[in-house]
Amino acid sequence: MNSTEGYYQQHIFFCLNQKDPGRKCCFAGGAEAMWAYAKERLQALGFEKRCVRVNKSGCLGRCSEGPVLVIYPEGVWYTYQTQADIDEIIEQHLIRHKPVERLLLPMGENS
Ligand code: FES
Repeated sequence: MNSTEGYYQQHIFFCLNQKDPGRKCCFAGGAEAMWAYAKERLQALGFEKRCVRVNKSGCLGRCSEGPVLVIYPEGVWYTYQTQADIDEIIEQHLIRHKPVERLLLPMGENS
């Protein structure tokens, strides 16, 4: 048994931050519903056994690009609009290990 066995090895952080009305934020972009959808889909697909966890997050600092999510440990950022986008991220990124190019956000200055 290795030291990480039994712990989550991949986390999907959905920003669910809500700002005052009229200010752009992930919550206003439908993030909560997409977070719930992702959790439901991953549960249905048995991802708990694959040590993947869907997490809520506060502001991730990319409000103008949102709604946003980030997957660690890869540090890959996505934006999304629809359940179909979430399905594509699950199918392509999590199952096939290929980024969904059309939904990618730049990695930032450190990458
Ligand atoms: S509100 Fe989501 S990144 Fe700031």
